[in-house]
Amino acid sequence: MRQLLYISSATPDAAVDVGIILSASMRNNRRDGVTGLLWTDERRFLQVLEGESGAVQAVFDRIGRDPRHRGIVVLHDRAIAVREFGSWDMARRGRNDTADAFDTRMRHHLAAASPTVRGTFEGLIAARRAA
Ligand SMILES: Cc1cc2nc3c(=O)[nH]c(=O)nc-3n(C[C@H](O)[C@H](O)[C@H](O)COP(=O)(O)O)c2cc1C
Repeated sequence: MRQLLYISSATPDAAVDVGIILSASMRNNRRDGVTGLLWTDERRFLQVLEGESGAVQAVFDRIGRDPRHRGIVVLHDRAIAVREFGSWDMARRGRNDTADAFDTRMRHHLAAASPTVRGTFEGLIAARRAA
């Protein structure tokens, strides 16, 4: 089993519709047995993908060619014994979400994640909140 974590930036002026990304990803990742989490504030993306190595590679190749984001940096790409995410989810803080409600949701998503993965998500979210 393989786990890949990357960060990227939304392409300015690309008018990214995260709802469209979400629906394509849910459909494809379920089909391909890929689980993980995508966090976005619509300026940055942080995504963890996990599954069989070939399936993770195929989805990451498609994501890498997607003009809606750029500056993709792989933070880690490693073998894992068991999945840390039960399904594929996307987390974004909605306009009407309080910080507390969002934190609770993220804690739920990250409950089984390794300290490295959890720390990376929490670090980025804290940095974006302070920005
Ligand atoms: C930040 C970001 C994350 C994405 N994550 C996924 C993903 O997890 N799974 C996926 O199939 N497509 C994902 N996509 C979309 C792919 O780049 C591509 O548009 C899509 O897989 C094409 O699917 P389709 O051929 O079924 O239309 C993502 C795109 C972006 C910009």
